[in-house]
Amino acid sequence: MLTLHTKQGEIEVDSGDFSSRISGFYRKSREERISDIAERVDLTPEDISILGSGGGLDIEVADRMIENVIGTMAYPFGVAVNFRLNGRDRLVPMAIEEPSVVAAASNMARLMREGDGIKTSSTEGVMIGQIQVLDVEDFEKAMAALGAAKDDLIELANQQDPVLVRFGGGARDIQLRELETEAGKMLVIHLLVDCLDAMGANAVNTMCEVLAPEVEELTGGRVLLRIISNLADRRLVRAEAVVKKESLGGENVVDDIVSAWAFADADPYRAATHNKGIMNGVVAVALATSQDHRAIEAGAHAYAARYGHYGSLSRWSKNGDGDLVGVLEMPMAVGIVGGATRTHPMAGLALKIMGVSKARDLAEVIVAVGLAQNLGALRALVQEGIQHGHMRLHARNLVVMAGAEGDLVDRAVEALVESGEIRFDKAQEIVKRLKG
Ligand code: MEV
Repeated sequence: MLTLHTKQGEIEVDSGDFSSRISGFYRKSREERISDIAERVDLTPEDISILGSGGGLDIEVADRMIENVIGTMAYPFGVAVNFRLNGRDRLVPMAIEEPSVVAAASNMARLMREGDGIKTSSTEGVMIGQIQVLDVEDFEKAMAALGAAKDDLIELANQQDPVLVRFGGGARDIQLRELETEAGKMLVIHLLVDCLDAMGANAVNTMCEVLAPEVEELTGGRVLLRIISNLADRRLVRAEAVVKKESLGGENVVDDIVSAWAFADADPYRAATHNKGIMNGVVAVALATSQDHRAIEAGAHAYAARYGHYGSLSRWSKNGDGDLVGVLEMPMAVGIVGGATRTHPMAGLALKIMGVSKARDLAEVIVAVGLAQNLGALRALVQEGIQHGHMRLHARNLVVMAGAEGDLVDRAVEALVESGEIRFDKAQEIVKRLKG
């Protein structure tokens, strides 16, 4: 049983009105961390038992989610602290197997909140469905017929999802493209659909499939593929933050971070790794909330190559005060209705901890974490190198495994790092000596 020490005595807190700044969160026990969160977010005893259940996914539920199930697989589920977006503090659950990621996100969120925090904005949740038309003989005539029937096609698409339409979403527009390919010239139709709080793949695919016979009749061609595009460049999120030069260790660090970014923007070999660092944060939040992270990954990398050259998803520059300015803009196709977001108990809990009630809000949190994560990697790379932080965390794990508790943990970590021999036997020796 966990004892929760909430200020109110009961776990009843307005999730929109608290500080996410929690100092030394990583040093606390798991129970203390849960207690810190429960002071801010109304966690029920059931929520807390899900957190301790080894992944939260019932085998019976898992068996209905995919095929050929023989078990479930859990990830560590951490919470990044210190995030402030558009003046509102947020706690951000992250599911990831890689050490340092949650710590780096929290640290960079702390630096960002020393300025004005992170500013985010987003477009509406418009996804693109593609209909590929082959064997069109007269493109001009086919495009004119499609243009004239546009309203009817949109209406037909919307009939497939009355609920989406009732809530204000649905098919918005149709765009036509002529595409030269290795297999000859094709007509490609883009159906633009505002998916609101859904990721939208089911709605968009259904709409595209239902339009196919009509499209064949209008164009005289043959429809082949009818499928959503993961290059969700109509569903973009932008996150921006200014970090004071003093918070980073001086203007020279700002200059070095800008140079590191410029390297990534100019070179695909570096850009792949730079963007991977962004995706460390993005995918961890996406996984914690049971999103289709493959769709997000695919969209991100395609967007990074939108100018015909694969470059950085983010942009870092220096402002007139010598401070660092970071901007991350990327597609973010996420949903909070339907799919695994509703079937996976951890996903619901993650949304609750994050205080998210709209897909756009979730999308903005995810991109904000991507920006912080990118800064964490760049700052470490231009200063001590990436291994330093990893080794400290590794040292912490080793000394805890060797029996260190309380104040002793930090002293043992210092001694182990200083020894230069970050191994379990050395950790045991140091802990034994410090315990005296
Ligand atoms: C490691 O998971 C991510 C980094 O390689 C990102 C980067 O190089 O920018 C540190």
